[in-house]
Amino acid sequence: MNKEITSILFFLLIATIFTGCGTKEVVGIVPQPVNIEVKSGTFLINEKTKIVVNGDNEASQKTAEYFAEQFRKVSGLELDIVEGGSRIKNSIYLCNQTDEEHAAEGYEMLIDRQGVVITGDPAGIFYGIQTLFQLLPSEIYGSSPAGDMDWEVAQVHIIDAPRFPWRGMHLDVSRHFFPVEFIKKYIDLLAMHKLNVFHWHIVDDQGWRMEVEKYPLLTEKGAWRDGSMEGWDYFVGPPVEGGPVYGGYYTQVEIKEIVQYAADRFITVVPEIELPGHSRAVLDAYPELSCTGKPFDKEGAVHHYLPPYCAGKEETFRFLEDVLTETMELFPSEYIHIGGDEVPKERWEVCPDCQQRILEEGLENTQELQSYFITRIEKFVNARGRKIIGWDEILEGGLAPNAAVMSWRGIEGGVEAARAQHPVVMSPVTHCYFNYCQTEDPAASEVPCGEYTSLEKIYLYEPVPDTLNSEESGFIMGAQGNVWTEGIETPEQVEYMALPRMSALSEVVWSSRSQRDYADFSARMDAHYLRMDQMGVNYFKE
Ligand code: ACM
Ligand code: ZN
Repeated sequence: MNKEITSILFFLLIATIFTGCGTKEVVGIVPQPVNIEVKSGTFLINEKTKIVVNGDNEASQKTAEYFAEQFRKVSGLELDIVEGGSRIKNSIYLCNQTDEEHAAEGYEMLIDRQGVVITGDPAGIFYGIQTLFQLLPSEIYGSSPAGDMDWEVAQVHIIDAPRFPWRGMHLDVSRHFFPVEFIKKYIDLLAMHKLNVFHWHIVDDQGWRMEVEKYPLLTEKGAWRDGSMEGWDYFVGPPVEGGPVYGGYYTQVEIKEIVQYAADRFITVVPEIELPGHSRAVLDAYPELSCTGKPFDKEGAVHHYLPPYCAGKEETFRFLEDVLTETMELFPSEYIHIGGDEVPKERWEVCPDCQQRILEEGLENTQELQSYFITRIEKFVNARGRKIIGWDEILEGGLAPNAAVMSWRGIEGGVEAARAQHPVVMSPVTHCYFNYCQTEDPAASEVPCGEYTSLEKIYLYEPVPDTLNSEESGFIMGAQGNVWTEGIETPEQVEYMALPRMSALSEVVWSSRSQRDYADFSARMDAHYLRMDQMGVNYFKE
C-alpha cells in the first residue's frame, strides 16, 4: 500500500472514531429506537428554522409549541410555527399521518441538510420530538439560557415504534406527599423515556390525597397524620393535639392541571383508589364505613395490613360510587385502578353485616366476598364506559369479568389472567419495585431500602413469560415500575430510587426484544446522564 492511501485510510479511521459515523453510541438515544441509521452530516437549528405543522392538527400544534418553548428557554431563539402541507427548507416538519404504514405511537424521522421531517400519528410525532431532543446537545434539557451553542443534530433516518401499549411508572404519594411541581417533573421524566402511563397511587392507609367534594373529611382529616414518627410506621395515626402534623393533598384544580399536563405529553394518568383494603385514612375520617363503626386502633393489630371497608354495609358502596364518580370526572383514563391488594379478612369473618352479605349472595367465604366487592365496583365503573385494573389479589375468589390484572407478587397472577384472556400489566416485585435497593449493600444507599435489584436485572426483564403461547402473550399490555414511598421522603429521594431504572425499563417496554444489550445501553447512558444533569435529576450512579 502506498503511503498516500495509507494516510487516507488512517484519516478515515480517525474521522470515523471521532464522528462516530454509523455508530449508535454517539447519538445515545434512550430508549433505543427500533431502527436508526446515522449519516455523516448535520443539520443546524437556527433563528430562521421554522416548525411546520401539516393540516389543522391541534395535537401536533401543541407538540410544536412544546418543542419551541423548551428550545426558547435554552437558546433564547423563537422558532416560528407555521401551517403547511409539505416541508420547506430549514424546517422541522411535523407530518401528521395516521395510516397503516405507520405503527400506532410510532414515527419516522428523517434529518438531512434541509431539516427534520417527523411523520407519524400525534403520539408518534411527540416521540419523534423526544428523539430530536436527544439528538441535540444535552443543554436542550436545561431550564435557563445555555449560552453560545450550536444546536446541531446528526443526519439520521429513524423508524421507531413501541413494543407495548402500557409503558408505566407508578408513584405512591400517600406514604409521603410530593408537591405538584415534582409530579410535573416526574411526568417530564416519563415523557423523556417515551413512557405513557402514570399510575398515581393517590390514596392509601397513611393518607388520602385527592380532594373529593362530596366527602370533605377525606382531605380535612384523611390527608394528615401524626408527624412525630421517626422512620416509617405503618400504624401511624391521626395528628395528636398540639403535636407535629404531616401530610398534604391535591385539589381538584391541581389534579385537572396535572392530568392535562400529562395528556399534553401523551401520558395517561391512571388514578388508584384503593379498595377494599389500604383504606385506613378513609375509615378514620368516616368510621361508619368500617366493620366496627369505630376508627382504627393500633392495639390489637395483627399485621400492617389494616382493616378494610365493611363489605356488608350498603353505605360502603354508596360512598365508593360517589368517590369513583368524582374520580372518573377528574381522570379520563380508560382504566381506573381499584387496588385490591393485601386485604385482611379477619374482621369480615366476624362482622355480622359481612356475614349477612355472604349468606344473601350465596358466597362460600371471605375470598368470594372480596370478589363480590370488586365485581360490584367493576359493574359500576363499566356502566360509565370505563374499565378496572387491580393488583393480582383480585384473582382470588374469582376475577371480575372485565378486569385487567397488575401482576406484582410475581408473574403467576399475570400468567393466570392472560390465560383467562384478561389484559395484564407486569410489575413483579422481583424486577419492577424501584423502592428496592440499587446498591448491593443497603447501608450504601442514600435512601432506606430493602432487597437489592440491580439496574442490569431490570434492564433484562422480559414482560412476556415464556410459558404463554402467542395468543395468551397478546394479553400482556406491558410493564410498569413502581415507587412505593414508605422509606422515600423527598422528591430527590424519589429521583435517586427511580433513575436510571426508569431508563432501563423504557427499553424493556419500548425497544424490540432482540435489541436488548446491556453493554450498549450502558454506553448510551453516558449521554443520557448528561441530559438528566441538565434537568437537575438526583439519579443514582454507581
Ligand atoms: C403492593 O405492592 N401491595 C401492590
Ligand atoms: Zn363488615
